[in-house]
Amino acid sequence: MEKNFKRTLVTCALPYANGPVHIGHLAGVYVPADIYVRYLRMKGEDVLYICGSDEHGVPITIKARAQGVSPQDIVDKYHGIIKDSFSRLGINFDIYSRTTSKVHEKNASDFFKKLYDDDKFITKETEQFFDPEAKAFLADRYIVGTCPKCGNPNAYGDQCEKCGSTLSPEELIDPKSKLSGAAPIKVKTKHWYMPLNEYEPWLRDWILEQHKEWKTNVYGQCKSWLDGGLQPRAVSRDLDWGIPLPIDGAEGKVLYVWFDAPIGYISNTQELLLKSWKEWWQSQDTRLIHFIGKDNIVFHCIVFPSMLKAHGDYILPDNVPANEFLNLEGDKISTSHNWAVWLNEYADEFPGQEDVLRYVLCANAPETKDNDFTWKDFQARNNSELVAIFGNFVNRAVVLTEKYFGGKVPPRGALQPIDEEALAQIPQCRKNLEAAIETFHFRDALKEAMNIARIGNKYISDTEPWKVAKTDMSRCATILNVSLQICADLALAFEPFTPFAAERLRNMLCVGVKAGYDHRAGEGKPTVNFYKAGEGRALHTLPSSQSEPQAGSNENAFRIVLDWEMLGSQDLLPEGHELGKPELLFSKVEDSVVEAQIAKLNAAKAANEEAAKAEAANEVEPQKAECSFDDFQKMDIRTATVLAAERVPKSDKLLKLSIDTGIDKRTIVSGIAKFYAPEDLVGKQICILANLKPRTIFGIESKGMILMAQQGDGAMRFITPQETLHNGSVIG
Ligand code: MF3
Ligand code: ZN
Repeated sequence: MEKNFKRTLVTCALPYANGPVHIGHLAGVYVPADIYVRYLRMKGEDVLYICGSDEHGVPITIKARAQGVSPQDIVDKYHGIIKDSFSRLGINFDIYSRTTSKVHEKNASDFFKKLYDDDKFITKETEQFFDPEAKAFLADRYIVGTCPKCGNPNAYGDQCEKCGSTLSPEELIDPKSKLSGAAPIKVKTKHWYMPLNEYEPWLRDWILEQHKEWKTNVYGQCKSWLDGGLQPRAVSRDLDWGIPLPIDGAEGKVLYVWFDAPIGYISNTQELLLKSWKEWWQSQDTRLIHFIGKDNIVFHCIVFPSMLKAHGDYILPDNVPANEFLNLEGDKISTSHNWAVWLNEYADEFPGQEDVLRYVLCANAPETKDNDFTWKDFQARNNSELVAIFGNFVNRAVVLTEKYFGGKVPPRGALQPIDEEALAQIPQCRKNLEAAIETFHFRDALKEAMNIARIGNKYISDTEPWKVAKTDMSRCATILNVSLQICADLALAFEPFTPFAAERLRNMLCVGVKAGYDHRAGEGKPTVNFYKAGEGRALHTLPSSQSEPQAGSNENAFRIVLDWEMLGSQDLLPEGHELGKPELLFSKVEDSVVEAQIAKLNAAKAANEEAAKAEAANEVEPQKAECSFDDFQKMDIRTATVLAAERVPKSDKLLKLSIDTGIDKRTIVSGIAKFYAPEDLVGKQICILANLKPRTIFGIESKGMILMAQQGDGAMRFITPQETLHNGSVIG
């Protein structure tokens, strides 16, 4: 595996443009990818960072239909929201394009056409559900009916959202088309398939033999797919939203979304780099890494590689670091139930605290197993790690330097063992951090960065420069000099994880940083970026041939440019270097903020329960089997009045009613205690089935039955004649 690559191509799963991105996406895919890219760039490697929106597929058409707008409207809206929220979190792809772009339509069509011309597909004719009224084939999601497992009348052809069962449309009771309400019929249709079974031996060798280094969750999933045996997979669909099949005889058919979307990685590269894109996709010198969530493993490790192999011109991924899922406050994140923390809302509600989310999601990333995000943990990690350790240390070092040395780095002087010990630990932290990032262990990597802050914080607490200053200014100078070197180490070590805080720290230290190649400008020579101090994230770009920033309008900002290679070196800031203004790196998250977020989630939960109840209340039981007039006539239904009512001891359901039936006074035991208090009933006129065979319930003889109407959600109400009638009036 130790190949010498010249460049690294990092892709992130293209999010579906049918909703905003949430913390689950972020923790699983985008935060780790962003850390990786920033790190490699600081190390001076050439990295291309590609993402975009995935804008095809059935769910987008369903959402559009539900809202009465076009699928294009939906993707336009969410593409904008997603793109914007990524950049607000500091996730700056070289390009964030979309699969409805012209470049992609052509590229995906050409890809299909090449495989078609090279005879890489097989075709099959199968029977698919079809809506005879709307004259359209129906995706499984477009068929609704009653769930055979739980009776939910609104189950989808692929899944029942009530009981969670996976279904097929055939299993639904009384299936109906969502388009017209008609019962679907089966109609023959032809589709193109990737014969994945033919790629199985090659995949086994490529993954199971040559990529034993892949993460265990990824390797394990691949192995179980391969051991289960691969089947041909359809790459076309009968749908009116997608990229039309570029061949004759395929009218009304489009590329399956999972065929076109991963090709989007290539298309987006082409859009950015019109001429040089091939270097990135067709040269063995390129290392391709796909960052994805675990639900995408089969597509990125088995299906897409088979497509690339079949095509023949492309490189294959060298690694596919997939994460598991993040839960939220103990429950699965759910877009449809609004059980999520949305990135765009976070960015609105926590301005200036973008890093906190990045930090918490990395510290708690679901790298090897599903994990839980809680607001309490968010608060604790911010307050007791970012604020109390990292922020506190930096603040003490910078503020004391300002106080005692006018904001200039004081002279080093002679180091004592305690100084040497603190400084000596940092190269090891750096080594561990690098090893962890390079093997995709981002949580461990972050711990190492935090370790540097711990070392600094402990050092300054142990040496107490604020006390030493009273007696020995030169010793105080040494301590602060050492502390400031560690601050500069932190500015480097945290750049991949918390880039906004790293920038604030650089501004305080008045240093720039060499942040590596950047391709956002598109075609042309890669440029080296230096983030300058004091000018926000404005970039100063230089041709890559120029290894040092040149004196010019920004001499001051460039007096010192940190470089990853300096991390742990002890000489990052020279004596006399003037610092910028102290500012707080992080601020506390108050209880009220966390409580407001939890309240927001609880409101979402309550709204869901309300909606579920309302839906259940609406459910109407199907009509019972026919009965004859004689059957009906047998039932003696009459008006009656409740004379007295009491609870049946030891039962929480039953009430004992004594009633006047007009014929007699009698006792009826009825299971309505959940719906009525005894005093609600006394004096009320009701309807009863008078001739029901008597039964003994809880030792009480009950003669007859009270007629109740029951709603879909179980709520019951008794029936009262519109006007009071004589008791014993016959109903029929
Ligand atoms: N849209 C898919 C999802 O959210 C991911 C597509 S990744 C790509 O699960 F490779 F297909 F682009
Ligand atoms: Zn069900």
